[in-house]
Amino acid sequence: MRNEPPITWPASDFSRVPYAAYSDPTIYEDEQARVFRGPTWNYLGLEAELPGPGDFITTVLGDTPILVSRDEKGTLNAFVNRCMHRGMLLKRERCGNAKNHTCIYHQWSYDLKGGLIGVPFPKGAGGHGGLPADFDRKTIRLHALTIESYRGVIFGTFSDSAEPLVDYLGAEVRHELDRLFHKPLKVLGYQRQRIFGNWKLYNDNVRDPNHGGLLHMFHATFGLYRLSQTGGAKLDARGRHNITWNSLGTDDAKITDKGYEGTKKVLQRGFQLADMSMLRYEREFPDDVSLVILSVFPNVVFQQIANSLCTRQIRCKGIGEMELYWTYFGYDDDSETMTAHRCKQANLVGPGGLISMEDGEAVEQVHRTVLHERDKHARVEIGGKGAIHTQESLVTEVPIRGFYRYYCELMGFPAGQAAAE
Ligand SMILES: [Fe+2]
Repeated sequence: MRNEPPITWPASDFSRVPYAAYSDPTIYEDEQARVFRGPTWNYLGLEAELPGPGDFITTVLGDTPILVSRDEKGTLNAFVNRCMHRGMLLKRERCGNAKNHTCIYHQWSYDLKGGLIGVPFPKGAGGHGGLPADFDRKTIRLHALTIESYRGVIFGTFSDSAEPLVDYLGAEVRHELDRLFHKPLKVLGYQRQRIFGNWKLYNDNVRDPNHGGLLHMFHATFGLYRLSQTGGAKLDARGRHNITWNSLGTDDAKITDKGYEGTKKVLQRGFQLADMSMLRYEREFPDDVSLVILSVFPNVVFQQIANSLCTRQIRCKGIGEMELYWTYFGYDDDSETMTAHRCKQANLVGPGGLISMEDGEAVEQVHRTVLHERDKHARVEIGGKGAIHTQESLVTEVPIRGFYRYYCELMGFPAGQAAAE
């Protein structure tokens, strides 16, 4: 345990973010304990990825490797993906089907519920070696964590004091998950994106509706997302999760052009694509919302951009590095045409995505430019200072303050009384 918090938040309304929070390695270690292994629920994967008995996936919680495994009866179990012998990574595959889980290092094997079932040469060879007399394999089990699913989305926690998952998510997030996961899924594929930046910088990015219409020229130019469109950011009661949403086609040309006047060619009138079907939105939800970026603290984003649906899992790789793990999906009853459309529209996002490649670049550039700052901070006040609540416009970054309010609570970081300059 630490004696003193290594950081004091410079403003009680969280309108300042100390740059040291992105680069101090002692903070990173604390985060793994207090945030990821603390009383939070972390996204692990989708039930649709492991539908049958024996199916498994490997994933992470923070930077801890996790194995999620469905047993013979169909029950999901999750364990630290580490052999209880000497710490070897137990399963190295991304996914698969297994009758048991056997470590490659010394062939210790575990059943699908995590119990040790076999150790080679238990009595040694020729009367020598082997296991000690008091070795009791029944007492050795993989380190389990608690998991719960909501609408087929699997979350896990290491903590005994986490709220029930439904309370942790809250009504606003559950409403969005009910909408997105309203029928059986079909997983379409994956992308992985290594970003050399702190994991919180990506959380900042997805809680920043303002940048969505300014950094992303493709969004603004082709009208998928403009700051002048109907949209906003819904926060849960604690302000720790965020739902950025908009409705394409709702902007007034005059207001839009006026708003983008001073920007550097973010919106290019008259631009066309050779294949305009990339932009098509086939309405499939009972509302006019064409984009939802749902960020659940601390490690996942659920995305609907037109008909491109996916989850983005944040995987920590140390203080200055993370991986985004993109799982693209559609629905079981999608037509072939719809599946093809979703796959084409998947090109909007991912490491080389027409929209989201800039996010990776922005995170990396911020990380590098603040790396050695110990007493400077970011200014987060678009959308207003003070109270943290749901926003009725896209010109806001208030959800970032909500993220840090809960983060500081978990981390035990005191917040200052006044906004620092
Ligand atoms: Fe973005």
